[in-house]
Amino acid sequence: MSSISHEFQTLFGHLPEVTSEAPGRVNLIGEHIDYSEGFVLPFAIANRTHAAISRSADGLVRISSHQRRNSIFSISITDVKPGSKGDWEKYVLGVIWSLGITEGLNILVDGNVPAGAGLSSSAALECAVAVGLNALLGLGLSDKELARATQRAENDYVGMPCGIMDQSVSLMGKVGSALLLDCRDLSTESIPFNVADAGLELLIIDTQAHHALVDGGYAERRSACESAAAKLGVKSMRDLTLEDLMVGKDKLSAIEFIRARHAVSEISRVLATVQALKSGDFTQVGALINQSHNSLRDDYAVSCPELDLAVEVARSAGALGARMVGGGFGGSAIALLRVEDVEMARTAITDAFSKEGFKKPRFFTSLPSAGASALLSSKLQ
Ligand code: GLA
Repeated sequence: MSSISHEFQTLFGHLPEVTSEAPGRVNLIGEHIDYSEGFVLPFAIANRTHAAISRSADGLVRISSHQRRNSIFSISITDVKPGSKGDWEKYVLGVIWSLGITEGLNILVDGNVPAGAGLSSSAALECAVAVGLNALLGLGLSDKELARATQRAENDYVGMPCGIMDQSVSLMGKVGSALLLDCRDLSTESIPFNVADAGLELLIIDTQAHHALVDGGYAERRSACESAAAKLGVKSMRDLTLEDLMVGKDKLSAIEFIRARHAVSEISRVLATVQALKSGDFTQVGALINQSHNSLRDDYAVSCPELDLAVEVARSAGALGARMVGGGFGGSAIALLRVEDVEMARTAITDAFSKEGFKKPRFFTSLPSAGASALLSSKLQ
């Protein structure tokens, strides 16, 4: 019996009907363009969230986590709607709500995706619950439908206006490959990302910085792109070239123009990165990763001193490329390094952080891993 099933039994007095899991992610390139219908190139990491679920006949939804074993959050299924009580439980409730579930549930979750590190622990939680419920209740939803449902949970229940990248890759990630995702129609292509074969490692640097105004800053970036698109008469940044943007520059505010310049240039960097990966040109991949960071720092203004320092020091330590990942204003950076340079880079980053009086950074690495999965207990017998 898996350890989560065992713990579930101790907590609820019976075995779960389904166990499921979903990973966090890093994004190789394609930042802040999912909500502009662009292309992104994330991959699922090894760190994941596990869920164990059973139906409950009393109409109550009970939620607990391994990390808070002694407390069980409880709410009537009829009260599961936006504005309900709950803290982190809202990510779970949001999924139940967006899937339209009307019966009681017992849910236990356990995860090792570091929270607040910009590695999408929230999408991992949402997707673990979503694939578990999809299997348990025979909903028959596709990955694309689950991605839309989990994004709706986060947008309308939790209140974070995120795009669709994190949930999509958590659901559809593949071992050994990054996921080229077209955020307009959610079509995908697996792009092999064999860094180890090339003698490289993708170092993930959690700066441990979490700056205030994150949500407001995110929403502001999103609406700048939307208003720029409206003023230029297109649906989204996806429909613009840099030339169009230059022609329409006078119609935009200075801020809208630079935000749009990031979005439009980032979309072309993603496609260029795919070409570079297909031809095994990691030097070019590194150069594009560097350009992405500079654009996020200068035009999109979502970096912060800790992320900039991690990136600069990684570059000086020989990284082919380094950049912030995720929403920004803190969280993690990635650096593509030769394996033999990794140790030196870690030390140099740790020393530089200590000199600046920043928190001690944490380091991870991960090869592209599998997306979410669920296992019905009935299938085990
Ligand atoms: C967060 C959001 C994603 C995406 C990234 C930035 O992770 O959840 O939808 O917008 O920021 O690329």
